[in-house]
Amino acid sequence: MSDEKRLLLIISGGIAAYKSLYLIRRLRERGVRVRCILTKGGAEFVTALSVATLAQEKAYTDLFSLTDESEIGHIRLSREADLVVVAPASADILAKMANGIADDLATTALLATDKPVIIAPAMNTRMWQHPATRRNLARLETDGVLRVGPVAGALAEGEVGEGRMAEPDEILAAIERFFRGAQTLAGLTALVTSGPTHEPIDPVRFIGNRSSGKQGHAIAAACARLGAGVTLVSGPTAEPDPEGIETIHVETAQEMLSACLDALPVDVAVCAAAVSDWRAAEPSPKKLKKARASRGAGNRPLALDLVENPDILATLSARTAQRPRLVIGFAAETENVVEFATEKLAAKGCDWIVANDVSPESGTFGGETNTVHLLIKDGKAGAPLVEDWPPSAKSAVASRLAECIARAVGPASPEPASS
Ligand code: C5P
Repeated sequence: MSDEKRLLLIISGGIAAYKSLYLIRRLRERGVRVRCILTKGGAEFVTALSVATLAQEKAYTDLFSLTDESEIGHIRLSREADLVVVAPASADILAKMANGIADDLATTALLATDKPVIIAPAMNTRMWQHPATRRNLARLETDGVLRVGPVAGALAEGEVGEGRMAEPDEILAAIERFFRGAQTLAGLTALVTSGPTHEPIDPVRFIGNRSSGKQGHAIAAACARLGAGVTLVSGPTAEPDPEGIETIHVETAQEMLSACLDALPVDVAVCAAAVSDWRAAEPSPKKLKKARASRGAGNRPLALDLVENPDILATLSARTAQRPRLVIGFAAETENVVEFATEKLAAKGCDWIVANDVSPESGTFGGETNTVHLLIKDGKAGAPLVEDWPPSAKSAVASRLAECIARAVGPASPEPASS
């Protein structure tokens, strides 16, 4: 299955077009690449600029169609997507779709597509009930077009009735159901660590790192999307708790380890957290004062005694009882990425290493994308199998990793010989 999901969103004319802006945002948050076509009617309700800003991609409109044709073309626009969504779908565009009319960029792309299409109709209740619209819908249904809504409710014109576009979250759920496909991790459990740890020096200071938790949280969400029961053990991050996932918040490496051990048994463990290697040997119970800390020591710098933290990944990998069937670690390297990650695979005793290229050229630090190599331990203790993944959004890396996990331990996969 492809890593990054690509969606072509066609926004046709209707007051509900403003809700599509929210839909774009939610899709982007989930790592879906969204390309948009605004029909002439759609552009009366929302601007190409707002659409492009939210989608982080140029918005295609008829106004620019000549340039667009030379740059990308309607065929590529419709083919370079895994799914086409028409939201809102006006009575007019449904009629054109049902009859194979292609008189603008949107309808041409719809006629040229070989991809599944979901429509989210939105129109006045009388237009919705009109025999012509019913005929068009029946035709579209026969053609295999999928539909979300419309729902009954207050319409823009002050009337009440069926014709209101489904809420963006409902459209999103339909899109996710489509992308989710088979629940390849159903019935399995996964433990994911994410974020940094904070090791206290005194009640207000800590040793920490810049890990955002984005990658770990995305992996937890991706495993849950495939049906796994996920426990996410997270250090302090600004990331929201992923929906429907049991999230345990911890501060220190020791707390993270104990939360992980409490979560056992699990089928899979993914250690994506950037755990602090060290902690203060004796954190001060009171805030250290500058004067007191240096008193008697002249101008000498304050010395901090550090002790090593437990290695969670190595601990989980080394368990004899309740060892997860698959233990996955991360390795961030700036050079000789695969070579160093191979050493880490052996040193930690895990099964796979997701090696991150964090060299300045890779743009990983602080960015949304990751360049990854997946190292898979060879059962016969030879060199690991290495998959080089192209630079992708962290969410796309997460989806691809979840799919690899499903292939390795999912219900349809063979039991590993070593467990
Ligand atoms: O040794 P290093 O920190 O580079 O190893 C990275 C991998 O080990 C990551 O998967 C990280 O989550 C895990 N790790 C851990 N506990 C530690 C240190 C690292 O689980 N104390």
